[in-house]
Amino acid sequence: MPPNTTKIKEFFDTQAEAYDSARRLGHINYPGGQYFRKQLSEIVNPFIKGEMKVLEFGAGTGAYTYIFSNTDSKVVSLDISLEMLLESKKKNPDSHFVVADAHNLPFKKGSFDLVVGVNAFSYFSNKDKALSEIKDVLGEGGRIIICDMNGYSPLWNLVKTGRQKEVLVYLPQSNRKFLRTLFQSYRIKILSLREFSWIPYWANRWMVYIFRPIEAALTKVPLLKRLALRILIIGEKIAN
Ligand SMILES: C[S@@+](CC[C@H](N)C(=O)[O-])C[C@H]1O[C@@H](n2cnc3c(N)ncnc32)[C@H](O)[C@@H]1O
Repeated sequence: MPPNTTKIKEFFDTQAEAYDSARRLGHINYPGGQYFRKQLSEIVNPFIKGEMKVLEFGAGTGAYTYIFSNTDSKVVSLDISLEMLLESKKKNPDSHFVVADAHNLPFKKGSFDLVVGVNAFSYFSNKDKALSEIKDVLGEGGRIIICDMNGYSPLWNLVKTGRQKEVLVYLPQSNRKFLRTLFQSYRIKILSLREFSWIPYWANRWMVYIFRPIEAALTKVPLLKRLALRILIIGEKIAN
């Protein structure tokens, strides 16, 4: 049976304090996690322009809110877990924080220019509802970026049968086919859909160094590319 939102909230409340150092969850304190953050910034940066209103859903401890820190964007960090957001406040003092369920967003229609979620969509029990809420709060021409673990990745499937077993195994996972169908069903124009990142987020400095050329080589092989660790979709809200 899929875990309900309360169970997921309780899970993250208990993880919050140790999250950034957790090997299988937060990983931002590991060189592999930091390298991923750099890769993600390079992809997201071209979409950040001027004084944008940005919503980051499932923002957690704010490991990726950092991407907006030297920009003119006004960022709202939303999460169902207050404990996770309290950790984020320590690193992202300029963000606005909202505790809410992404299945029921407390904002007016068209409030944001950009909606971003990193490693969070996987945890939503009703992804249809969450995407319809996200679309509503985006203005026309607004962009949505979802970066998630790739459901086709063997490594991800190993991870999710570990500590996250309780909350993840019953939920539909993000993979190319799933995300494409979902975006199309909400008539969100897909600007980019790609798998990337082969370096485990808990990798130490030497592993990152050794894996980088391997990653570059794997990324060139079309079928293997599909098995990378992460998947990213960028969409645009168009007039219906
Ligand atoms: C794996 S963490 C990712 C946090 C952060 N984005 C990162 O990558 O480090 C998933 C986050 O999604 C949040 N979350 C899960 N379900 C949610 C929901 N229904 N509404 C809002 N946030 C939710 C959790 O509380 C948690 O902070």
